[in-house]
Amino acid sequence: MLDAVDAATGGEPPRLLDLAGGTGTITLRALAHFRTVTATVVDQDPVLLALARASLDERAAVVAADLNDSSWVESLPHREFDAVLTATAMHWLPEQRLNELYSEIRGLLRPGGVFINADQMADDGLPAFGKRLLEREDARRDARYAAGAVLSWRDWWDKVRADESFAELIAEHDRIYPPERGTHTEWLPPVSWHLEALRGAGFAEAGILWRGGPDAAVIGVR
Ligand SMILES: C[S@@+](CC[C@H](N)C(=O)[O-])C[C@H]1O[C@@H](n2cnc3c(N)ncnc32)[C@H](O)[C@@H]1O
Repeated sequence: MLDAVDAATGGEPPRLLDLAGGTGTITLRALAHFRTVTATVVDQDPVLLALARASLDERAAVVAADLNDSSWVESLPHREFDAVLTATAMHWLPEQRLNELYSEIRGLLRPGGVFINADQMADDGLPAFGKRLLEREDARRDARYAAGAVLSWRDWWDKVRADESFAELIAEHDRIYPPERGTHTEWLPPVSWHLEALRGAGFAEAGILWRGGPDAAVIGVR
């Protein structure tokens, strides 16, 4: 992702938007990679945003907004970005809303700016073998969880809930993501859906920036 940002800016300090950025994982890497950079993390989860505020520095702004509501753009400190970056998040949004969001994102990019979405996106050419790749990936991940090498999303949340200092933020989190509803629907279209949606949203170029097994990153260039 950051290589693509470099290519888009020609080495000039980038202005980045980290969409549904959670704790700011992408922004943290961007702050380490670019000495001069302006970043904005947008998310609606109060717990994750509090962690982002605590771990990022003054080069990053942290904004609370709901991407399901098209007025989210009004919460941003800038209206023009060199790159909009997002990972493992767009599958939380329903199809129609994601189509609209792709247009809104394009509207926030300067000409030549890039949007990159990394997520689980099947390769259309591998309908059956892709499922086997995914099963293997899931099994490997479950083994890492079982070995305690890494926390699952659910176990991570259990740890946060067990920490009293998060009680108020957890109450807010539960209002936004009621536990009885589950946090999100999983809508995971293949890579072709994303490329078509990017073209439909008016991006001048749309393609695959990266692929690793069942996961991919698509890029749209304004
Ligand atoms: C799996 S996390 C990924 C976070 C981050 N991009 C990362 O890779 O570490 C998905 C994120 O999408 C955010 N999200 C989902 N729906 C959202 C919405 N409607 N508005 C804002 N953020 C949303 C969630 O709050 C969560 O932080």
